Amino acid sequence: NPNFVIAVDGPAASGKGTIATRLGAAYGLPVLDTGLLYRAVGVLMQRASEDLDDHEAAAAAAAILTSDLLDDPACRTRAAGEAASRVAIHPRVRGALMDFQRTFASQEGGAVLDGRDIGTVIAPDAPAKLYVTASPEVRAERRWKQLTAQGERVELADVLEDIHRRDARDGGRDAAPMRPAADAVLLDTSEMTIDQAADAARRIVEAAR
Ligand code: C5P
Repeated sequence: NPNFVIAVDGPAASGKGTIATRLGAAYGLPVLDTGLLYRAVGVLMQRASEDLDDHEAAAAAAAILTSDLLDDPACRTRAAGEAASRVAIHPRVRGALMDFQRTFASQEGGAVLDGRDIGTVIAPDAPAKLYVTASPEVRAERRWKQLTAQGERVELADVLEDIHRRDARDGGRDAAPMRPAADAVLLDTSEMTIDQAADAARRIVEAAR
């Protein structure tokens, strides 16, 4: 397949980012963490002290986004994750970020994209689709470790609350809600190590090749 796109969707801290990175390395494909696009819009909005519910301002922020912001550590914070899921509700924000994602997905040779709506909206024809999940408790623990390692001081219980709120918002919105594509393979990583999850993902992708 000349355009081998691998769609990796799932909720926050499910392991999809790590899996996408491992798959990209295994197949020599470029990887796009699409959550970073929404996080960057959230960061721009917060820097400009804009109201995250203001869809005009959010769409304007999405329109001026440049890729250098994706590398900014500000995009990795807990606040950026929360802001991202709030701006991601607005259809015009999603529309403004669509071209970039589709262009990335249509590169010669293929690409790996991870997010919430890759298999359903961004790349519905992708030959390989995974929907990565894990229990909210396991995800909270993983995210808490990440945040703590990057120096954020936060309680595990608050991270679990974030996870529940984000699941409800991402799954409940009207525009491209988080859900598995009909042809996605579900992968529950709750009881798996990173290596086990990466191996399982690789087997799923091999079966689709
Ligand atoms: O994956 P990550 O947790 O970094 O994503 C941050 C937020 O961005 C998600 O909670 C979701 O609201 C939004 N998002 C989205 N569609 C994507 C990727 C992320 O709506 N493809």
